[in-house]
Amino acid sequence: MRLAIGSDHAGYELKEAIKGYLDEQGLAYQDFGTYSADSCDYPDFGLAVAEAVARGDFPLGILVCGTGIGMSIVANKVPGVRAALCSDTFSAHSSREHNHANILVLGARVVGTGLALDIVRTWLAASPLGGRHARRVEKITAVEKKYGRE
Ligand code: RB5
Repeated sequence: MRLAIGSDHAGYELKEAIKGYLDEQGLAYQDFGTYSADSCDYPDFGLAVAEAVARGDFPLGILVCGTGIGMSIVANKVPGVRAALCSDTFSAHSSREHNHANILVLGARVVGTGLALDIVRTWLAASPLGGRHARRVEKITAVEKKYGRE
């Protein structure tokens, strides 16, 4: 499995730490930037990762900004994306199991590196559950359709 990963300047250091973790685990990824801690605009990188996941080029993605909020807002505007901002491991595995989240969002100014890496590990280890959860996710897709954004 290959992951799409991206951040703004505020998330740059944590993105690099996540890449280190993925390397250790032998997990492949494509880094969509940013590539330094120089100030930049989070929507540019959030959109690139969200579109790559929505196109099906990558099954999952990870985005990091200062709070995670900006990246979440941007990513969730792309049809087909279910981006989950997580600051704890319970939300992380629930977002995969119940919400079929396909992008994990982290706030580098909110969670420390150790917790963030635990969240990444937990999120990647969880799988979508079917049944009532799948039905609810279908209803999310129906909302996108209703507004012509499928
Ligand atoms: C950058 O200063 C900051 O606004 C950004 O990383 C993010 O927190 C936005 O939601």
